[in-house]
Amino acid sequence: MRELNITLPGRDRPRRLRRSRAVRDLVAETHLSPNQFVLPHFVLPTDGAEEPVSAMPGISCMGVERLLPQVESDLALGIRSVLLFGQPPPGTKAPDGRAAADDAGAVQRAVKRLKDVFGDELVVMTDVCICAYTDHGHCGLIEGGDVDNDLSLRPLVDTALSHARAGADIVAPSDMMDGRVGAIRDALDAHGHQGVAILAYTAKYASAYYGPFREAADSAPSEGDRQGYQMDCRNALEAIREAELDEQEGADMLMVKPALPYLDVISAMRAATAKPLAAYNVSGEYSAVKAAAERGWLEEARVVRENLLAIARAGADLIITYHCRDALREKWL
Ligand code: PBG
Ligand code: ZN
Repeated sequence: MRELNITLPGRDRPRRLRRSRAVRDLVAETHLSPNQFVLPHFVLPTDGAEEPVSAMPGISCMGVERLLPQVESDLALGIRSVLLFGQPPPGTKAPDGRAAADDAGAVQRAVKRLKDVFGDELVVMTDVCICAYTDHGHCGLIEGGDVDNDLSLRPLVDTALSHARAGADIVAPSDMMDGRVGAIRDALDAHGHQGVAILAYTAKYASAYYGPFREAADSAPSEGDRQGYQMDCRNALEAIREAELDEQEGADMLMVKPALPYLDVISAMRAATAKPLAAYNVSGEYSAVKAAAERGWLEEARVVRENLLAIARAGADLIITYHCRDALREKWL
């Protein structure tokens, strides 16, 4: 047998910096902190109610009175920011989604109570959209069979104002109507809410990963889909154009959503903006991991850590994720 002539590595050996846990930690480029996590909550209109979301093990929709102790124990884990989604009282969905802007709505009451109880210890963000409040389930108003952009700005602005009156720190419009960030900024400023920040869902893709959320928020469109306003998954440069618009319109922070299938977009957006960048690790991304973990096909702790690190490494500052309670409680990070 002929002896193979193997070329040995040169003087540079990357394995030197992988030899021990301590060395690896010393040179690690990416770190996760509880400070950067935002936990979403689905707020029910009935204060004492609690309903598990079947496709999202570990996640329940809750009324205000159930939410308070939950947020308190999450704060003890280090989760200092929440993002609230609401549902209207049964039978109040309407074509114009007007219940979204009701000062006595579930989100508004939750914001008030959370800010009363936790003050500035807790950052309260609200999702601004009307799809859970419209009878057709779209994120805007329907006119002539289509979602009318400019008509939809009014209810979105009214909803953001109502959240600001309740005491929200940050409003996060998720509807994807053109011009909504500017319209909301103008209205907030005109009504004395200069201090309320806007987290824009800048690059929100029309995604199949929102499936479990639509069950939780009861916000699936009854007809058609959201491709007429959410972004096409084939596009990345378009996300940069959206970022430019949102910045011009006064967004304080930008978001990419979903997260893992769009790490390239997070990375490109990171390079294109100096504003804080959020990534939303959405319901379907969570459900997929949970389902595989339940079957014993994936090791949840390591997959969650790897996923969250990937999102941070791509360039996200804030990570909105349903995993953060488990990850912090079980010390997965
Ligand atoms: C609705 C909204 C959606 C999500 C956040 N806001 C769903 C949608 O656009 O259909 C998705 C969140 C998730 O899947 O976790 N405007
Ligand atoms: Zn919506």
